[in-house]
Amino acid sequence: MEKQQKSSHVVLVMVSFQGHITPMLQLASILHSKGFSITIVHTEFNSPNPSNHPEFTFISIPDKLTESHFSDKDTASSVWNLNKNCAAPLQQCLEKILHSLHHIAAVIYDTLMYSAQTITEDLGLLGIVLRTGSATTMLFYPAFSQLDEERIDFVYEIKSPELQALQLKRLRALLSQNATKAMTEVRVAFANVLKRSSAIIVNSTEFLELEALSKVKQYFPAPIITIGPLHKFAPAICSSLLTEDDKCISWLNKQAPNSVIYVSFGSIANIDKQELIEIAWGLSNMKQPFLWVVRPGMVRGSEWIESLPNGFEESVGERGCIVKWAPQKEVLAHAAVGGFWTHCGWNSTIESICEGVPMLCRPFFGDQHLNTSSICNVWKIGLELQNLERGNIERTIKRLMVDMEGNGIRKRAIDLKEKAAFYLMEEGSTSRSLNKLIKHILSV
Ligand code: UDX
Repeated sequence: MEKQQKSSHVVLVMVSFQGHITPMLQLASILHSKGFSITIVHTEFNSPNPSNHPEFTFISIPDKLTESHFSDKDTASSVWNLNKNCAAPLQQCLEKILHSLHHIAAVIYDTLMYSAQTITEDLGLLGIVLRTGSATTMLFYPAFSQLDEERIDFVYEIKSPELQALQLKRLRALLSQNATKAMTEVRVAFANVLKRSSAIIVNSTEFLELEALSKVKQYFPAPIITIGPLHKFAPAICSSLLTEDDKCISWLNKQAPNSVIYVSFGSIANIDKQELIEIAWGLSNMKQPFLWVVRPGMVRGSEWIESLPNGFEESVGERGCIVKWAPQKEVLAHAAVGGFWTHCGWNSTIESICEGVPMLCRPFFGDQHLNTSSICNVWKIGLELQNLERGNIERTIKRLMVDMEGNGIRKRAIDLKEKAAFYLMEEGSTSRSLNKLIKHILSV
């Protein structure tokens, strides 16, 4: 009995971005519901609110980072600094836990906290990496990694139409443009931990990324456990760093079915004042109702929405609703929402898929470009917005929300939602993956 209790303790190492906190907490909830006791090690910056999760033990480690270290302009440097600053405190923290509990069944860490793998190896612990992005992104790491230069053609030996549709070559060129030293180092580190980790958990599923997964499995020796979409599988949890503004739900209740375009660019992306103005007039001119999330500080050089153009509010009236942060999953599930203008972060992408909402894609950086390609070229459930000019915004939203072209896209989005629901049924593939993960954790 005692042995069982000891061996069922799992430590999760979380990083401080909203798009990473949420899936890690969802995984923690799933494992807790299966009888594991959970310790969450997190950075001081952006730390989650422990009172929302009394069932977990939270331990914070110093990261020496401030708000200014986290910008969409240089995420690689933030990640590099995070690992540099957190490695020693993380090691001390794990040693302390080990000292008091005598046994840790596994350490599950976010790919961004890649330094955790070496630490777990040194301590003789089982290290498992959590990929919060798509499985398809993993195709890029071997090709980006300088250590794997000889295998640079790995991703292009691809014959399957699904992977060809992703236009990997074009995306690789795009993502390699102006790659900084930090970016290259971080990509090499990602490729290395994915190779060395004892298992790779991915917040995805076969029905979305079958071809990519089979290709990825050829390269990475560790078992790949697809346990997504986590938000559908996990018990409902509160993981938002910002307060969700529920007033948008009462506003949505007054709108016609499928009439609203929901606009949100996730938790990191920033825009400048001129882009805010173009978006504002694009939304005003297209005449559909819209719900727009503008995070405080999202517009560079502004507190919030004080740079909105004169005349915008009068022209929009009750047709528009702007909030600082929305209950996004509830919004996407609302009958009034007919389209999602998104930055294509992976969480937003799979949340939208699970609700059958077609997408207007405007990627900002990193994996968002690849997700856009999956949405528009593989699943064909969205349109890409090529530039942030008001006339183009107006026309592209109409194509998605009003024109015949949008009907086909909507139908495919609903088909994909139904497929997702089927896969999530009890005893479906996600349940099987969870059993595989539990077996793996308890194997040592
Ligand atoms: C970041 C990167 O931008 C993304 O490319 C990567 O895939 C994950 O990390 P982020 O910008 O936070 O992600 O976007 P996303 O992955 O979509 O996650 C945002 C989360 O915040 C989603 O779970 C979404 O539901 C939530 N959200 C967003 C809200 O709850 N309310 C909002 O108003 C906006």
